[in-house]
Amino acid sequence: AETPMAASPQTALAVNAPVISKEVTVLFGSQTGNSQKLANKLSGRLQEQGFQVTLSSMNDFKPNTLKKVQNLLIVVSTHGEGEPPDNALSFYEFLHSKRAPQLEGLRFSVLALGDTSYEFFCQTGKDFDKRLEELGGKRLTPRVDCDVDYDEPAAEWMNNVLSSLSEASAAQATTSVGGVTIERGTQTEYSRSNPFQAVVLENLNLNGRGSDRETRHLELSLEGSNLQYEPGDCLGIYPKNHPRLVDELIEAMGWKPEELVPINKNGEERPLREALSSHYEITVLTKPLIEQASKLSSGNGLQELLAAGREQELREYIRDRDLLDLVQDYSLKGVSAKEFVSILRKLPARLYSISSSPKAYPDEVHLTIRKVQYKAHGRYRYGVCSSYIADRLEAGDTLPVFVHHNPNFKLPQNPDTPIIMIGPGTGVAPFRAFLGEREEIGAKGKTWLFFGDQHFSTDFLYQVDWQRWLKEGVLTRMDVAFSRDTDQKVYVQHRMLEKSKELYQWLQEGACVYVCGDEKKMAHDVHAALATILEQQGGLGSEEAIEYLKRMQQEKRYQRDVY
Ligand code: 2AM
Repeated sequence: AETPMAASPQTALAVNAPVISKEVTVLFGSQTGNSQKLANKLSGRLQEQGFQVTLSSMNDFKPNTLKKVQNLLIVVSTHGEGEPPDNALSFYEFLHSKRAPQLEGLRFSVLALGDTSYEFFCQTGKDFDKRLEELGGKRLTPRVDCDVDYDEPAAEWMNNVLSSLSEASAAQATTSVGGVTIERGTQTEYSRSNPFQAVVLENLNLNGRGSDRETRHLELSLEGSNLQYEPGDCLGIYPKNHPRLVDELIEAMGWKPEELVPINKNGEERPLREALSSHYEITVLTKPLIEQASKLSSGNGLQELLAAGREQELREYIRDRDLLDLVQDYSLKGVSAKEFVSILRKLPARLYSISSSPKAYPDEVHLTIRKVQYKAHGRYRYGVCSSYIADRLEAGDTLPVFVHHNPNFKLPQNPDTPIIMIGPGTGVAPFRAFLGEREEIGAKGKTWLFFGDQHFSTDFLYQVDWQRWLKEGVLTRMDVAFSRDTDQKVYVQHRMLEKSKELYQWLQEGACVYVCGDEKKMAHDVHAALATILEQQGGLGSEEAIEYLKRMQQEKRYQRDVY
């Protein structure tokens, strides 16, 4: 249903529009593709109304043309600890530097994507919004900050932007009902808001007996869905909450499991037990939730927790606690189920990198999911989706899914281009898809995989696949780092540094570099290792090396899928 529009540098759209009333620049900064998708949609709608649209990723936008822009719309997500996405970095830095021009004539608005379970919620969007104002820009419409479930607020922001940009706002075509755009067409289109019920074909544990880990290899059937994906894309899954957590919460509050409660703003209702297991987030606590909960009853003690100066304490309380802790630790008894669910977030879909090539497995999709389970505050805590899949989902069951396209993690167009893949743990998932794809199309380019995990004997995920691909030449080289088989920890970046010379050689030959997996530690350390290699082998200074990597990112020769 998306208008296919190239997100390539400075694509001027609507060149044939009948009346070119105004120019609008739409810039996006996107890590996993959500912002890009929304920016595409916005551009399409602007175009329909006769605007001349320049749509571009922030990285591809020439900052020295900013001065000429009259209307600037920004769609940007926030990553990790409040950081801009990779393809927003250079523009972000430019705008916050002394080189940034004064922007008196500029009108702008920002749509910020984020996740309220992170401390620096929508920080990048907030930064852009603030900075553009500092530089003299005037806000067209207020910034909107979206939580993971962004469809409705994003649609509302778009509507506001469109009507404030267009004089003929009254005559606006309304393809929009209740803020959500209706998709036309005969064949059912499955999407985030209308997931496909995929049948589970296989659900295996990839780890051997005695491992600390449990990693599920999940095979789902997409038959009849018409869902398409490419290597590098993700699959969204709607999980169910842990039944024990649901039951204990209902019991602690003295509610009735069969009582009907609303599950959305349209007034649809479900029995409480079902609503809490399939429709509402009950595992992750957020500050906005605590704020709302504090108003549910008087003297419940939450007001104190929210008091100024106690931010650190609040942060610590929220970490690793869930709704059951909240109702046990604070006096919320007597709050009705209806009132309670009105403050909860919708249970968001979880995204996983796809580990199969659709060419190798037509009508199927494979995932590689590590079960999250740990003890905190006196009881076991479970990752919502991973434990659902590991403990409560069997072959034959169905799972609501949708495809989430990730344009920022794609194989090079040219199958002869060498690729270097770095994916410890479940970060290896998309590389199974990459190699499956390269095998199917008979690609000639060299391939190099770095993999790591705790133990060789129990944690060597997909060992058989890699070995076969090595034998058949689909995989040219593989280096592994098993961190807990030796006295000294060895990680993928150590292996990269050991192979500095060859790795640099590959880079000189134009290899693309892909990193997937843990963001905070691994991706950061791998980035540093790449810089070291450029310094040592290429004779670059440390700043030059960082610049070089940035350029590689801009040219899409260095792509990351990190979480
Ligand atoms: P560890 O658990 O022994 O510390 C996949 O999870 C693999 O990534 C494990 O072998 C894990 O090692 C390793 N790992 C942990 N921190 C890392 C880091 N900073 N860089 C690279 N690998 C890391």
